[in-house]
Amino acid sequence: MKKLLIRGRVLSFRDEPASADDHEAYCYYEDGAVLVEGGLIRQSGAYADVVAAAGSDFETVDHRPHLIMPGFIDTHIHYPQTQVVASYAANLLEWLNTYTFVAEQKFADEQHAQFITERFLDELIRHGTTTAVAYCSVHPQSADAYFRASQYRGMRMLGGKVMMDRNAPPALCDTAQSGYDDSKALIARWHGVDRLEYVITPRFAITSTPAQMEASGALAAEFPDMCIQTHLSENHDEIAFTKQLYPDAPDYLGIYEHYGLLGNRTLLGHSIHLEAREVAVMAETGAIAVFCPTSNLFLGSGLFDRDRLKANGVRMAVATDIGGGTSFSMLRTLDEGYKVLQLRGQRMNPFQSFYMMTLGNARALSLEDRIGTLEAGTEADLVVLDSCATAPMRLRMAAGATLEQELFLLQTMGDDRAIVETYIAGKPMKKALA
Ligand code: GUN
Ligand code: ZN
Repeated sequence: MKKLLIRGRVLSFRDEPASADDHEAYCYYEDGAVLVEGGLIRQSGAYADVVAAAGSDFETVDHRPHLIMPGFIDTHIHYPQTQVVASYAANLLEWLNTYTFVAEQKFADEQHAQFITERFLDELIRHGTTTAVAYCSVHPQSADAYFRASQYRGMRMLGGKVMMDRNAPPALCDTAQSGYDDSKALIARWHGVDRLEYVITPRFAITSTPAQMEASGALAAEFPDMCIQTHLSENHDEIAFTKQLYPDAPDYLGIYEHYGLLGNRTLLGHSIHLEAREVAVMAETGAIAVFCPTSNLFLGSGLFDRDRLKANGVRMAVATDIGGGTSFSMLRTLDEGYKVLQLRGQRMNPFQSFYMMTLGNARALSLEDRIGTLEAGTEADLVVLDSCATAPMRLRMAAGATLEQELFLLQTMGDDRAIVETYIAGKPMKKALA
């Protein structure tokens, strides 16, 4: 395959920016380029250096004056909830029972699963997201459809079928044994195939019996390097019900701890209302608190306490949580995240936001050697951003903007219209969808 030289302003992160003045934390080239070959980044940096290294046989795509960054990563999303977004409910449990558990039943039909997963992946690409960690429905065929469509697009995608064996409609329940067996068969079919990774997915403690929690723990022990995803302390009623179901547990997290589900690839969606012991155990085990701001505001779940978690050494990631979340866009997500933190009196500068969407989320998944950066040898998943995508954005930019101000504008006013192109393994994918 011919080399591709992608030219534009280039931004990537080396580390989490301590402040907006932490220039060591990021690399920015006003006239930059990324050289891609065989799906991988060969080199990135100043255009003059990259073009000199490219040799003679390459094509050029000129995205100037747009901004090229590593593709966005979404660490918590439910693909079967693509048609659940914007469902009117008072709180999490009402929303789950009234809409979500109804919509997810349709995924017993593999054709429906395929129809939705293809549109879901198209939406990710349209919004500049190149990797996501998804919950599928309880039906193994929903995961087959998801992985097949992701493989076809060449995307680095993670996901798993939810295990749930109580407190849900019978049509959505597996059993401890079938959940284990189906997960294991999916692992054999998909884990490590091309760019795909299986994720062990007990939905949350409310929908799993102790026997199913034990089966999840057995999977985790058999596949110690595999990601695990579940939900934790999102809503006060959820927490109270969980404690009733597991009266011997010291707290909500103690359930997952007891069944051996905590490690440095465990993604704990929401993690809002935490006791001190839970925070300490998360820090100790390296488990990740996943901030889902649009969902937390939409369902009225609560305000994520980033500074408390950070002060205690807890790792963090950020995600849309479609369909509790209200947008596929990581720009919209970080905008809402900024506002959640504002309400808590906590500050998040734009460099930190864009770090979180890219390298920060890659690190949370322990995938920073493959995605989330523009380092040579990593996978060429890129997003190209237009800060003048709409008339109000153009007007704001015309008033003059530093890079920091431009990023803040992209986050505050940007959405899918600001995504000029999305490259998956070096292939432009967004324009082809239009
Ligand atoms: N807790 C258990 N399942 C879900 C879900 O699908 N969405 C959200 N937001 N919380 C959950
Ligand atoms: Zn969720």
